[in-house]
Amino acid sequence: MIVDYQREGVIGVITIDNPPVNAISQGVRAGLMDALAALNADAGAQAAVILCAGRTWVAGADIAEFGKPPMMPHLPDVIDRIEASAKPVVAAIHGTALGGGLEIALGAHARIAAHDARLGLPEVTLGLMPGAGGTQRLPRLVGLAASLDMITSARQVGAAEALKIGLVDRIVTGDLTRAAMQFARELAGQQPRRTSEIAAPTVDAALADSIKASLTATAPGQVARPRAVDAVIEGLSLPFDQGMAQERAKFMELMDTPQRAALIHAFFAERAVTNLPDLKGVPARTVDRIGVIGGGTMGAGIAVSALLADLDVTLVERDAEAAERAAAGIGRMLEASVGRGKLTPDRRDAILSESFRAVGDYEALSDADLIVEAVFEKMEVKEQVFARLDAVARPGAVLATNTSYLDVNRIAQATGRPQDVIGLHFFSPAHVMRLLEVVVADRTAPDVVATGFALARKLKKIAVRAGVCDGFIGNRMLAHYRAAADAMVLDGASPYQIDRALTEFGFAMGPYAVSDLAGLDIGYLTRQRMAADRHPRDRVPVFADRLYELGRLGRKTGRGYYIYDDKDPKGREDPELAGLLDQVRADLGIAPRDFDDAEIVARYMAAMVNEGARVVGDGIAARPLDVDVVLLNGYGFPRWRGGPMHWADAQGLPGIADDIERFSRQDDHFWRIAPLLRDLAAKGGRFGDLNQRSVA
Ligand code: 3HC
Ligand code: NAI
Repeated sequence: MIVDYQREGVIGVITIDNPPVNAISQGVRAGLMDALAALNADAGAQAAVILCAGRTWVAGADIAEFGKPPMMPHLPDVIDRIEASAKPVVAAIHGTALGGGLEIALGAHARIAAHDARLGLPEVTLGLMPGAGGTQRLPRLVGLAASLDMITSARQVGAAEALKIGLVDRIVTGDLTRAAMQFARELAGQQPRRTSEIAAPTVDAALADSIKASLTATAPGQVARPRAVDAVIEGLSLPFDQGMAQERAKFMELMDTPQRAALIHAFFAERAVTNLPDLKGVPARTVDRIGVIGGGTMGAGIAVSALLADLDVTLVERDAEAAERAAAGIGRMLEASVGRGKLTPDRRDAILSESFRAVGDYEALSDADLIVEAVFEKMEVKEQVFARLDAVARPGAVLATNTSYLDVNRIAQATGRPQDVIGLHFFSPAHVMRLLEVVVADRTAPDVVATGFALARKLKKIAVRAGVCDGFIGNRMLAHYRAAADAMVLDGASPYQIDRALTEFGFAMGPYAVSDLAGLDIGYLTRQRMAADRHPRDRVPVFADRLYELGRLGRKTGRGYYIYDDKDPKGREDPELAGLLDQVRADLGIAPRDFDDAEIVARYMAAMVNEGARVVGDGIAARPLDVDVVLLNGYGFPRWRGGPMHWADAQGLPGIADDIERFSRQDDHFWRIAPLLRDLAAKGGRFGDLNQRSVA
């Protein structure tokens, strides 16, 4: 039974049990209808509670049903049925009450929550809006401003805040079921308090307009949030039933948008990345004690990430003095976490006195379960570090490198235990960014791979499996689409126009603003490293070398592509850049031409998708969805476009293949179509087809 009805004394107990998260499938909807009928037919019942089995209250509509023909009974009708009950119904909330789950609770006549429960309407993160009364019942219960905040931010409200704003009536620290039964007994025989009958708050059009204006800045290009604001405002000036009807109409319109499809692809892709056949049934090694080598940008971030996840961390630097410097930096980062409310001062003190130490001696790593190396990006240095690790690490310890580009197979050969060596490629800042590429070398043991994924889960990160090549999935693709942008600059486009066109497309930042943030020295050093392997027809971004030679390294020097000063801490365009670019083009004998924004996006995206196809075709990424998850979580790709491979499917692969063919007429060295893209485009296939096949 997905939904069960029993009676205890005068209370009808309705229990939803649909693991893992009690999503509202057709079975749950039908079951609730039957349970309500049973309640109202049960002469011995004077009130009811709705409980959920398992780890959470209802987490929302069943997302797997989206995009398929709707099946009766519809959720708004189920909730109307709950609200219409002549006997008071109490929702007893634990875990998370999200989306349609919260809407069920809003349809009940009273709400009681466990002290650690969380409540929210996250529909906009899926390109939707509340579609079962959330836009109409929530404002009646908590007021206009609080409801618009919850609906447009998708924020989860904790139980204490929910009580304060009137979203729940009571909070319980002890036994939720007992307290809910008691609450129901108190309400037994009373007239149910129906949310839809509460007077609607006064419509404040100015508030709605200001929220919509701010959404244009914070969520540009996204349709669901402003639509949700419209639904709230429009509905509140109508009778309740009509308000519900217009909400449903807007919800169904959003259901048909490409943004909804993209965001739900992202949701499932982020969960499917761990679903790999070679990990099935493979137990991870136990990891409690972590070693980190190198306490620079990445080592410090990795250490903090592990400490925040309650792991024990030993950091090794080059000597005691460097170790002390690294420890001071980590102390400051933990302090900032205290400032942001992520850590209590007591916990910080306990971490620093018990769980963390920084030393200059590799021997301290002898009992570590997993060691992550984050020293300079130089093969000789990494080889030395791994040879020393081989001497000190205990048998069975996982030895990981955080290298961005280097050959993990070669690093593994520096040890006598290549089966224990893996790449764990964190992103900067490592205690903030959620992506982790788990780089599997030729001889990495399966349980070491499983350990990489298990560690990611512990650190609350999204792990994606990657194979060994220069740059793995993300940085390899970045090198390619970045080269497409640089070629456009050489041929006449302005970096500012490229940044604008791509932020307009939805990227968090354009590539030249990103260069300034990372530092132009990083790209310069990478070009130096790759110079020996360069093909004569590779186009070198000489302008970037010039900026480097002028000491214009980006934000850290106040000037790179943009100028940064007190007046414009976020950067402004530099009028002198055009002259530098003209000079470079003249030196190379290039006659500059104009690019429009559409061509900029087409070239950048075609390069990204083409290299993504190559990465999948070469087996570096397991499936196209893995590429999407990397670009979404590590490279600022707009989530509402679903990732480059999903975006390509939505555009149509033949069009992208044609673009590449057209671009190749000017440069058939750079623009060579990936075999996978060519084949799929020719036979009417989609990248998405490969997601299905390989997961099954
Ligand atoms: N529908 C279907 N499946 C769902 C689901 C949903 N609403 N929510 C989670 N799942 C599935 C996941 O895909 C995953 O499946 P898998 O094990 O096969 O990969 C499994 O449940 C567990 O999910 P998580 O791994 O995410 O578990 P966590 O414990 O980390 O998180 C959660 C639990 C906070 C509930 C999180 O899953 C979540 O945020 N879910 C989505 C909630 C949501 O967006 N609800 C709104 C839906 S839209 C709606 O309700 C419309 C309404 O207004 C009409
Ligand atoms: P960094 O220069 O900030 O830090 C390197 C640290 O390693 C320094 O503190 C140095 O003293 C220490 N170190 C050097 N040799 C050592 C040795 N033999 N033993 C102990 N400590 C030693 O470098 P960063 O940026 O932290 O990069 C580290 C690694 O992480 C590199 O492989 C890099 O490619 C990779 N990486 C960097 C990212 C970034 O955005 N900075 C992102 C992802 C990976």
